[in-house]
Amino acid sequence: MRAPYMTRLGLAAVLLAAAVAACSGGDDPPGADGTPDSGNPTPVDSGTPDAGDSGTPSTPDAGPDAGEPDAGVDAGTDAGTPDAGQPEGTVTIPNKLSELGLFTGTPATGDFQPVAGNVPYELTTPLFSDYSLKSRTLYVPAGKTAAYSASDVLDLPVGTIITKTFAFPADFREPDKNVRPLETRILVRQPGGWEAYPYVWNDALTEADKAVGGKVFKNFEFIDAEGVAKKFDYLVPQRNQCQKCHHVVDEQDNQQLLPIGVKARYLNRDHVYGGQTLNQLQHLADLGKLTGLPPAIQVPRAPDAFNVDEASLEIRARTYLDINCAHCHNPKAQPGITSRLFLDIKTTDEFSLGHCKRPGSAGSGVGGEFDIVPGDHSTSILWYRMDTEESGKMMPEIGRALRHDAGSQLIADWIDAMPPRTCK
Ligand code: HEC
Ligand code: HEC
Repeated sequence: MRAPYMTRLGLAAVLLAAAVAACSGGDDPPGADGTPDSGNPTPVDSGTPDAGDSGTPSTPDAGPDAGEPDAGVDAGTDAGTPDAGQPEGTVTIPNKLSELGLFTGTPATGDFQPVAGNVPYELTTPLFSDYSLKSRTLYVPAGKTAAYSASDVLDLPVGTIITKTFAFPADFREPDKNVRPLETRILVRQPGGWEAYPYVWNDALTEADKAVGGKVFKNFEFIDAEGVAKKFDYLVPQRNQCQKCHHVVDEQDNQQLLPIGVKARYLNRDHVYGGQTLNQLQHLADLGKLTGLPPAIQVPRAPDAFNVDEASLEIRARTYLDINCAHCHNPKAQPGITSRLFLDIKTTDEFSLGHCKRPGSAGSGVGGEFDIVPGDHSTSILWYRMDTEESGKMMPEIGRALRHDAGSQLIADWIDAMPPRTCK
């Protein structure tokens, strides 16, 4: 039973988020200098209904490599000031994270915090990334709003910046001590679409520098919640790898970069803001940052996949696959289109979910002949590829080096609970 382990991890995440984010209630403060756009509001266009594909930009050339926004200009202290020749609302991407103006302090001095208006949030079930603790923030520019969507990502306006910081405590039994951030990833909503950038924290923990080529933290060590020392190579993805997960193919067959987790069902949970426990979506609405939020009972909620009290095994397993796998395995993403394996929450057809399905990519040594053999996880490829740490075989194919013990157990339990079938 892995539940206590996850509970502690969850607690650690809460503690970290609380430590990182002790402030943040309230309105955009007069002192939010340095936040992009402050004092420079652009007309609000966020109420535009964008049927189906929330957050997709209207301009077609939204390739993630649509030009380094700071190429040839001073990527310095004027983040947010539209540069000559850039469309209005363009966020200048600085070389140093601090120059975005979204945080104050540093991890070195223990006072790294989001500025007011840069709102911390957590997900009901997050993506597993080698046990790292993650803290996330959402910044919607002054004078603009996000629009609610029941099933897709929130429709976020130009100028929005989402950050995600990955950190490890030296020892998960004391998760709030000696916490070392490794990287901060950002997604920025530019006039032409979303852009993704990785920033890597320096050893002194005084600054995170833009690192389009990513980075490997070789032989990174931590002690896990059971007291076992772990050593592995922690990989910060290259900028051009972000799109491997953050991409969908739209109706016009264009590749679009999109956020993944900022969906109502994953945001529908509490967070402590300035000492007050509030529902995250309600808090955004109260701040004037979210429009169209329906009454609480109408807002969908994905459960915590590891809390047996929150939902059935079936729903928890499907939620885990949705947040960990579905960004690639869905009908609009390239790996889904190629493999025809769809692990998103909307898929109901058993064959598309892998039942008695022979893999398209007939690699050998992946634990069996069928993606899922109902009733028997041990011969199911889907479970095997989650359980292995062998590169080339493991799933997700990027984003982890270590096995998620609790995740692979959850999927094993789910498969074993299915009415047994003999696959042919
Ligand atoms: C292995 C797949 C994968 C890769 C590679 C990846 N991401 Fe993500 N990312 C996710 C998933 C899944 C979420 C939502 C779940 C979560 O936050 O735990 C997410 C969330 C985020 C968020 C929070 C906003 C959101 O989308 O919900 C940011 C910011 C982000 N990623 C930036 C990046 C950047 C920048 C890169 C490249 C350096 C990158 N990601 C690479 C899968 C990935
Ligand atoms: C970054 C994109 C990405 C993510 C995330 C991802 N996969 Fe995959 N997956 C692929 C690609 C590409 C293939 C096809 C090539 C191969 O088989 O290695 C594939 C193939 C598979 C297959 C063989 C499917 C078939 O019928 O051909 C299984 C099973 C699988 N993935 C399971 C998973 C599970 C379970 C997760 C989440 C824990 C996951 N994948 C997450 C990219 C991804």
